[in-house]
Amino acid sequence: MANRLHVLLIEDNEDDALLLVRHLKTSGFDPRVRRVESRTELAEALDQSKWDIVISDYSLPGFDGLTALKIVHDSGIDLPFIIVSGTIGEDVAVDAMRAGAHDYVMKDKLARLGPAVTRELREAEERRARRRAEAAYRSLVESSLQGFVIMQDRRVVFANSAMAQMLGCSVKDLLGRDRDGIDELVHPDDRERVWNRYSNRIAGEPAPDRYEFRLLRVDGEPCWVEISANRIEFEGRPATQATFADVTTRVRRDLEQHAIASAATSLRLADDRSEVASVILDRVLNLLDGKGAALTTLDPETNESVYAYARGAWVEIEGERVTVTKGISGRVFSSGEAYISNDVASDPHLAFPIIAASTKAVVGVPLIAESETLGVLLVGRNRPISQDDIVIVKAIAEMTASALRRITLNEELALSNVELTEAYDSTLEGWARALELRDSDTQGHTRRVTDLTVRLGRKLGLEDEVLVDLRRGALLHDIGKVAIPDHVLRKPGALDEDEWVIMRRHAEYAFEMLSPIAYLRRAIDIPYCHHEQWDGNGYPHGLSGEEIPLAARIFAVVDVWDALLMDRPYRAAWTIEKTVRHMRDLSGIKFDPDIVSVFLEMVGEDSASQTP
Ligand code: C2E
Ligand code: SIN
Ligand code: SIN
Ligand code: FE
Repeated sequence: MANRLHVLLIEDNEDDALLLVRHLKTSGFDPRVRRVESRTELAEALDQSKWDIVISDYSLPGFDGLTALKIVHDSGIDLPFIIVSGTIGEDVAVDAMRAGAHDYVMKDKLARLGPAVTRELREAEERRARRRAEAAYRSLVESSLQGFVIMQDRRVVFANSAMAQMLGCSVKDLLGRDRDGIDELVHPDDRERVWNRYSNRIAGEPAPDRYEFRLLRVDGEPCWVEISANRIEFEGRPATQATFADVTTRVRRDLEQHAIASAATSLRLADDRSEVASVILDRVLNLLDGKGAALTTLDPETNESVYAYARGAWVEIEGERVTVTKGISGRVFSSGEAYISNDVASDPHLAFPIIAASTKAVVGVPLIAESETLGVLLVGRNRPISQDDIVIVKAIAEMTASALRRITLNEELALSNVELTEAYDSTLEGWARALELRDSDTQGHTRRVTDLTVRLGRKLGLEDEVLVDLRRGALLHDIGKVAIPDHVLRKPGALDEDEWVIMRRHAEYAFEMLSPIAYLRRAIDIPYCHHEQWDGNGYPHGLSGEEIPLAARIFAVVDVWDALLMDRPYRAAWTIEKTVRHMRDLSGIKFDPDIVSVFLEMVGEDSASQTP
């Protein structure tokens, strides 16, 4: 079967035309020929039918091959164009080829025509296939949602519209950008890395073919991309071809999750409100790229929203208050709902102008724990706040509320401990007073020795916690005397041997009374050991030196001092001078000498300051 061939033949000579057709048939074609002789006929023919090839004589009356060539070319149809002529020389043929003819055949060598047609048909088919492939490729690249860039000599030589869109500019704005122009579009922290990889890739050295970095949109907003790049030949020289996928949402979500998890850890360790405030305000500023952040609390007494903590551009409003019917925080307090204002300056709720001066948009989220609104978390920045942002602020607010709630519970617990302690301590004071009433004229001895003992303990450098027990011990020092019968305890004269045996027992009675009470275990040294003496001649155990608990050594000095200065049923009060001398005499015998000297110095200061 011969190949059907639609030939548009530009030829004035009928015989020549027949000759051509015969040659084509000989070469295995089945030619369908239309012969035209003028521009008009040519134009019509091009317009009306589809052709496989144009075969043209070179010179016709009033017409010629070059003009025909131009008409075909201008029609935009890619048709093989072969000139057949008996008259042209080599140079004319070359001109024709240059003007776009695909081949020329001399009339006296028509045997060449068949093979020439065959070759031109094949080449035309190849051109069409290439055009189809290019069109397909172009539409693929253009319709791709991924950015696509070809770079050569550190310049952008090709970019698609998805790339331009990702960067917020036009394709034209990308094409031809050089190193500096490209740097404007890459986050400063990532430039070096990206260029290193580009150089390695171009040089054929190892470079990861897929990685993530930050582009900078022309509006300055960072955009996380995943790049897949490889080396190609472009117009005969090395280049890189890269696709870019926008992964901002995923990367941001990962960063947020990480930040929220680490905030949760920090919050769990925070044990006061200001620590909680620091942790969350810093994080929230960071996460939202905020300019100012604050945490407000409700003052139930004045019904005001208090800016308890503020950060960033808002630090100045820390400590400010606004009545809860006003302000953005007030609105959040009263509604219990998040509130966004993307144009604070014109928001009727705005209470502090400084907020509008530093931030365009503000979001307020309630801090709710167990259906109680504890406060409001406010964040402001210059870009609008989106629903995604609110999700983050709410997550942070939730953690904050539960941290604040935990701190409140701890405080309440500590407070109830304090209350309990106060209750116990007043019980102790009651016991001490009851004893004084029986031990008749000790005249406030207990109170005085308690105060003096605590002062002396502090002067000796004891910790507050130790002083608490010192105080309780002093208060209860003679509690064992409740078990001493009146005839001994209240005897107006000197005690006999038997009575002394009874009296000395007050130390051991104290131990028996107090040791079962856990709360007083650390306070027992004074009641139990305050009659031990430095030289080992005291009671109940005859301990000596530092075997005697420190608290008891301290107290013994104070006890004897105060007893001697007071009237006792068994003797009258001594003078200060006599008492001081007595204390000095017994220093290192009955008393710890170091404690005596600190004590005398302390009471000496007292008397010095009392002298007018
Ligand atoms: P208190 O009256 O509170 O005396 C506490 C300590 O102060 C006495 O412990 C003793 O170390 C010292 N002190 C008190 N008054 C004198 C004094 O006149 N001279 C001297 N050198 N030291 C004095 P002490 O001796 O272990 O006595 C313990 C408690 O026994 C006294 O507590 C008091 O209640 C009772 N007591 C001691 N001596 C007599 C006494 O002669 N007659 C009576 N009725 N009770 C006495
Ligand atoms: C590019 O940015 O287009 C190339 C970077 C690379 O080759 O890694
Ligand atoms: C506020 O919430 O409390 C005041 C914020 C503002 O409106 O300035
Ligand atoms: Fe005593």
